[in-house]
Amino acid sequence: MDGKKDRVLIIGATGYLGKRMVKASIALGHPTFILYRPEIVSDVGKVQMLIGFKMQGAILLQGSFDDQESLVSALKQVDVVVSVVAGNNTLLEQLKLVEAMKQVTTIKRFLPSEFGMDADRMGHAIPPGDMVFINKRIIRRAIEKANIPYTYVSANCCAGIFLSGLAQLENFMPRTDHVKIYGNGDKKCVWVDEDDMAMYTMMTVDDPRTLNKILYLRPPSNILTQMEVVQIWEKLIGKELKKIFLTQEEWLASMDDLTPYIQVALTHLYQIFYNGDLEFEAEGPHGVDSNDLYPDFKYVTAEEFLKRYL
Ligand SMILES: NC(=O)c1ccc[n+]([C@@H]2O[C@H](COP(=O)([O-])OP(=O)(O)OC[C@H]3O[C@@H](n4cnc5c(N)ncnc54)[C@H](OP(=O)(O)O)[C@@H]3O)[C@@H](O)[C@H]2O)c1
Repeated sequence: MDGKKDRVLIIGATGYLGKRMVKASIALGHPTFILYRPEIVSDVGKVQMLIGFKMQGAILLQGSFDDQESLVSALKQVDVVVSVVAGNNTLLEQLKLVEAMKQVTTIKRFLPSEFGMDADRMGHAIPPGDMVFINKRIIRRAIEKANIPYTYVSANCCAGIFLSGLAQLENFMPRTDHVKIYGNGDKKCVWVDEDDMAMYTMMTVDDPRTLNKILYLRPPSNILTQMEVVQIWEKLIGKELKKIFLTQEEWLASMDDLTPYIQVALTHLYQIFYNGDLEFEAEGPHGVDSNDLYPDFKYVTAEEFLKRYL
């Protein structure tokens, strides 16, 4: 080791998770490159965000999935690529990135846009949420076929989206009067602060223990059922919430009138809180648990997170 930190390219840097990846990459001392698309120049908020990154030391590169040369040129300047793009069509655009990596051959590791549930465990997922997993699997297989070194980060549930509203998804502040409980509220979920997701991701980009592995983010105190989370909130506010229990059938029927975008999020919620799809241990030859690798990392606990909303 020459002590030099790997150069990291972040694609999707101005998105919900992307901006946190930039912050974490810079904080850990990685020379940080950002690929931004030309369309962004008409969005003043995003341009200001990019300039903010630049002022913190990031290097801005313009490029697009529609311009293979721009991808190749960006890849030649870095060691590791972290993609945090979103949208079903855009997830598949990463195939062009894989093609460019095959051409460049020097990429030491690719972390494709994952950061949710483990796509390979979600073959049974219901539509329309299944498309996200299908597309993430297509990208995984392309990476493996091309022999590109990888880490898939299975980040589980964003606390700002899931924990903030006690898993309600129509509001991102915890209520103080009532809460809908899915089934008996007894399926384990893994709630992870978004900034912690980004720190774990950046800690892992040059960690040999996660090379060609799936890293499951599993902060031990945050593996909690919905009911346990509600109880933490009730203790914090000193009041019991009215519980509205929803059966699986009632929940699925309630989705009928919603837009496909919301339906995607709600079917993922169904997988977690009715199907119990996060109830497994990180195991097998490919899975590693963040807590085994980074036991001293001071993550935000569910209680600390909810205290912010008092
Ligand atoms: N675990 C969880 O609870 C959770 C929650 C949310 C998301 N996720 C996952 O995290 C990943 C990132 O999601 P996010 O919510 O951070 O996404 P997001 O906020 O929608 O941001 C997506 C990023 O992708 C970029 N992008 C979209 N289309 C593009 C294109 N054609 N070319 C280049 N860039 C494009 C956007 O660029 P511009 O800024 O230029 O528009 C944006 O920066 C996804 O894989 C998603 O499934 C997980």
